[in-house]
Amino acid sequence: MSGPRKSQPEGARPLRRETRVNHPPQVELPPGNRPLTPPIYQSVKYEFESIDETLRALTGQRPGFFYSRSGNPTVRQLELLLADLQGRDDALACASGVNAVAQTLFALTSAGDHVLCFVETYGPTRQIIRRFLARFGVRHTLLSIDDLAGIERTLATVPTRLVFFESPTNPVTKVADLAAMTRLARAHGALTVLDNTFAGFHQHGEYDVDVFVHSLTKYAAGTGDVMGGVAIARQELIQGMRPDWGLFGAQLDPHAAFMLTRGMKTYFLRYRAQCAAALEVAGFLAAHGVVERVRYPGLPSHPQAALARTQMREFGSVVTFDLQGGAEAARRFAEALQLFAVTASLGSTESLVLPPQMMRPKDLTPEQAAWSDIRPGTVRLSIGLEDLDDLRADLAQALEVAAAAGDGTARGSGAPAPTGA
Ligand SMILES: Cc1ncc(COP(=O)(O)O)c(C=O)c1O
Repeated sequence: MSGPRKSQPEGARPLRRETRVNHPPQVELPPGNRPLTPPIYQSVKYEFESIDETLRALTGQRPGFFYSRSGNPTVRQLELLLADLQGRDDALACASGVNAVAQTLFALTSAGDHVLCFVETYGPTRQIIRRFLARFGVRHTLLSIDDLAGIERTLATVPTRLVFFESPTNPVTKVADLAAMTRLARAHGALTVLDNTFAGFHQHGEYDVDVFVHSLTKYAAGTGDVMGGVAIARQELIQGMRPDWGLFGAQLDPHAAFMLTRGMKTYFLRYRAQCAAALEVAGFLAAHGVVERVRYPGLPSHPQAALARTQMREFGSVVTFDLQGGAEAARRFAEALQLFAVTASLGSTESLVLPPQMMRPKDLTPEQAAWSDIRPGTVRLSIGLEDLDDLRADLAQALEVAAAAGDGTARGSGAPAPTGA
């Protein structure tokens, strides 16, 4: 059960303390005895009994771990859990959501390929496709996720390697038609990659999506204190991606994986409570005079409410809305909030707010920015787990501040946000 890593030969000189601290006793659980919470394998290296066994492991002839950049048991546990929840065979975890997006795209494309992507996609994802992949000879077409005719036309006329999209989209919560997107892509031989961060791990699995990517920083961690990302797919795709995956060197640390697996134990409770609160907040905002429009897929007034109800059982914790009075009113509103932090991210237990000044798509033309529908008064809220009455009271007082700002000259600007500002 315990002892040095390797036994010393009979009669050997005792090892000095300086050596023993570097080779501490090994403690292994006896057969039939196991911890309810699996240990954190906070080890970079693993060894086998012999060089032959090591080589067998390295060539896939036996199971085992060798170096944490290419695999770690604590990370593996998280990967298997997430694959199971999303209804796919396997998964590859990594250090952040953006890294999962980048590694998936690099693993699945080659020079000469064409990628179809959308203005409503998370900004850094657009940059990876439009700046990064372009440098390596991967072309792209950028459309609006609303433009199904354009999607069909592009797929029919340009041989396309993959379609990368989100649903609901960040930040304006447009809902992609998953049945149509996956059918069109399949018909034209393109892979689909869906960033499913907003919808969570338990939704959309029944659609014919090839690869799901998630930021684990959001709903998996839950408490906003750990980052991670994952790609989830069928075996054949994961096997194809695996050799490239570790080469970026952005491995998920075992301690982060442990925190994420722990976070997942309360995922359903948190996600559902946050969705229920978000629906209440959306209804509250919709009834307020200073709010022009609320965009929450669970509200009947959402333009794609029927589609959202077909595809989703819960609608996420992000509520986006447009304030009368434009950017200045939105700034006053965000700064007046007491319980909502003005910062990035979403899905954590504390509520957050993003004003339009922090969501302007800098890489889009004015026409593309208009498709993306981020307006001068667009505000994104991420609803946490605070008491709902407290949140409503905070929102109400901040809306009053915004309304007071609207009495001045800033009121009524409905034009799309300027790009590059
Ligand atoms: C939809 C979406 N995808 C990916 C990411 C990136 O995740 P991370 O911050 O973990 O890199 C985010 C972050 O906000 C996101 O909202």
